[in-house]
Amino acid sequence: MAKDKLKRWAENKTFTHVFEPNLLPIIKEGKTFMKGEWRKKFYKNDNPLVIELGCGKGEYTVQLAEANPHINYLGIDVKGHRFNHGARIAKAKGLTNVAFLRTRIEFIEAFFAPNEVDEIWLTFSDPQPRDETGLKRITSSFFWNKYKHFIKDNGVIHIKHDNPMIYQNALEELEGTNYVIESHSEDVYGDYFQSLDEQWKKILSIRTFYESRWLEEGKKIHYVRFRIRQ
Ligand SMILES: C[S@@+](CC[C@H](N)C(=O)[O-])C[C@H]1O[C@@H](n2cnc3c(N)ncnc32)[C@H](O)[C@@H]1O
Repeated sequence: MAKDKLKRWAENKTFTHVFEPNLLPIIKEGKTFMKGEWRKKFYKNDNPLVIELGCGKGEYTVQLAEANPHINYLGIDVKGHRFNHGARIAKAKGLTNVAFLRTRIEFIEAFFAPNEVDEIWLTFSDPQPRDETGLKRITSSFFWNKYKHFIKDNGVIHIKHDNPMIYQNALEELEGTNYVIESHSEDVYGDYFQSLDEQWKKILSIRTFYESRWLEEGKKIHYVRFRIRQ
């Protein structure tokens, strides 16, 4: 496994669609990286930008990118050997609307300018059950308030998760805010799925590595989609 990780890390360095900036200048000197420049410097278009936080192997990033060539996708994770899977697939398929960024979500504001991001996917993020304040849980309102700095007004956040606590917390934290819940279900593949149109069925059927594992264990999958108001 260690050897495999080394191979994946080395391969990432050869990919022009993988960005692995040094975090030290960002943390210590308040430097930024590609902030406000993703479209101009990498995608070379003005298309919408969708990011997946904690993307793991990047299943959502790559499969959505393949289905929507006129939307830009960026998968973000601190573990480069994980998203190497997605980066490889994107390269093999010749997808030019996919990139990956290795960093910690805690410093996410260093990477995006106001209004730069259209949509955020949070897929099976680490639940951090002992984090009562939400300061570590990237699905918490503490983090939405960070995302608000760079997502467009009315931009969409999707949370897909196996953990009922994440789902309930999101609904509770949304209550009384001016964020608008667009859709939610505590059992995506139950009756809710039958009520969806074909496009949403396709989108919500994308299975990540962790989702497949939880489904095999018989867990239900929860989903919340809401719009962020500035
Ligand atoms: C449970 S896995 C889910 C991965 C993938 N979304 C899936 O569904 O298969 C959580 C992912 O989030 C990443 N992660 C956790 N905390 C992070 C943080 N603070 N910054 C960046 N990535 C983080 C982990 O490296 C891991 O790949």
